[in-house]
Amino acid sequence: MSKRAVTEFPINETLATRWSPRAFDPSVILTPADLSSAFEAARWAPSANNLQPWQFIVGFRGDDVFTAIANDLSGFNQSWAPDAGALVVAITNTVTASGRANAYARYDLGQAVAHFTIQATSDGLMTHQMGGFDIDALTLALEVHEPWEIVSLIAVGSLGDPHRLPEDRQASETGPRERKPFNEVVVRGL
Ligand SMILES: Cc1cc2nc3c(=O)[nH]c(=O)nc-3n(C[C@H](O)[C@H](O)[C@H](O)COP(=O)(O)O)c2cc1C
Repeated sequence: MSKRAVTEFPINETLATRWSPRAFDPSVILTPADLSSAFEAARWAPSANNLQPWQFIVGFRGDDVFTAIANDLSGFNQSWAPDAGALVVAITNTVTASGRANAYARYDLGQAVAHFTIQATSDGLMTHQMGGFDIDALTLALEVHEPWEIVSLIAVGSLGDPHRLPEDRQASETGPRERKPFNEVVVRGL
């Protein structure tokens, strides 16, 4: 099964091989040490004014945080994401030190998560980001308080058997990945 990006120009190998599986191997146990480098990569992401408006909450399969996150996943995500070894909550600080709204808070968190996913891929882990969850319930369950806000989740683990997924989801799990053509992305100048 090749999920490697079919690129119009050469790119870094780790970027090309990262993809988002839904079939995770439920027998794989992750420990904090397995994720240290990925979080370290996130820590070194750039941010506006170097405010670093991100934090992460991690649950490992079987612990209370993992269970709380898994319970608040939306319908389809609930069917596959709990097989991951860890579920990560990505949260952002929406205000600057002077109390003004930080217009770049989500942008910067996204960069930190991108760093996380690339380092994790390089370390042999699979990641799958999610926006499908009950944000109000999870905010309450994890006691996330203003000015911090939950933005997204990341399932982290090892690749599992695609046959674990419902039949109608197996084709997209094993099929090629798609992107808009290059000339629809860089629209002027090249
Ligand atoms: C912010 C964000 C939210 C996402 N939410 C979900 C989700 O709730 N459920 C899901 O199955 N995939 C989700 N995805 C995964 C995307 O569908 C996936 O990254 C995209 O189809 C590209 O596939 P690739 O990562 O394999 O290249 C999300 C991705 C991002 C970045």
